[in-house]
Amino acid sequence: MKKLITVVAGISFLVGTASADVASDQKALIGHFKSIQPNVEFADYTNGVYAYDKGSRDQFEEILDGIPPYEEAVEKGGAEYLKYGLNKCAALADPAAARVKHPYYDDAAGTVVTLEGTIQKCYNEQTGKKLGTMKGKIARISAWISDQAAGEKINVKVESEGAKAAYARGKAFFYAKRGQFNMSCADCHVYNAGKKARADILSPALGHTTHVPMYRAKWSGLGTLHRRYGGCLKNMRAKPIKAQKEVYRDMELFHQAMSNGLEITDARYRK
Ligand code: HEC
Repeated sequence: MKKLITVVAGISFLVGTASADVASDQKALIGHFKSIQPNVEFADYTNGVYAYDKGSRDQFEEILDGIPPYEEAVEKGGAEYLKYGLNKCAALADPAAARVKHPYYDDAAGTVVTLEGTIQKCYNEQTGKKLGTMKGKIARISAWISDQAAGEKINVKVESEGAKAAYARGKAFFYAKRGQFNMSCADCHVYNAGKKARADILSPALGHTTHVPMYRAKWSGLGTLHRRYGGCLKNMRAKPIKAQKEVYRDMELFHQAMSNGLEITDARYRK
């Protein structure tokens, strides 16, 4: 990690800083990635790091050609969706539509609502019990719901004043330096995307949310987007934040909106 810190030190230009306009922010971001990787097509950003690195792309495709290691878990998530009566909640009755609708800003509640938040709420209504936020049941159910929307496009809307404020907060969090290394998410996933950090190649932020919850070989299982946020904060030696807290939900609104127009995919494998 040290070596990377030296690489990123001094880079401080921002992509689309102060505005809260999704279209112009995304345009700037796409332009940035186009300048560092001119040959990668927009649609390929749904493949994360595999859009950037041929060697790991081959491995990725081999894994997808076989029986992906998450297949059984996602199937189980489908059974759990029915078992716990999640189809009885209006917000989840049409799972594909639910994936496309989230995250969104709920003006009445004054807060960003994530798919996992809606699953938790519905699960609680149906069973009287609480559901976790990062792995296991919630990740399986969320992955199955997302699978139903595979091939549809991410289309996060940021329209009301409240939504714009949440988006701006989430974006600020993404670009803010923090932790012992004084780094931002953007330092790795925007400015240094495609470069190596130890054994990893850094993925572009564009497309980060097309395959969530993701399966990670390192986890030997599925995890939600917020589980990943926590892992990256830890790597930055920054203060941990619990999954589904408001800062993460705000960041998710920004983060997913940056992938607008990219296909939601069921190819959820990552190293
Ligand atoms: C020191 C560099 C570094 C910083 C800073 C960093 N990450 Fe990461 N992140 C990584 C590495 C390495 C991986 C694994 C390889 C990859 O997919 O980029 C990763 C993976 C991810 C992934 C999964 C990508 C995928 O395709 O599944 C997400 C999402 C993510 N990071 C979000 C964030 C967010 C949000 C922040 C800020 C809170 C952040 N990261 C900060 C290094 C970093």
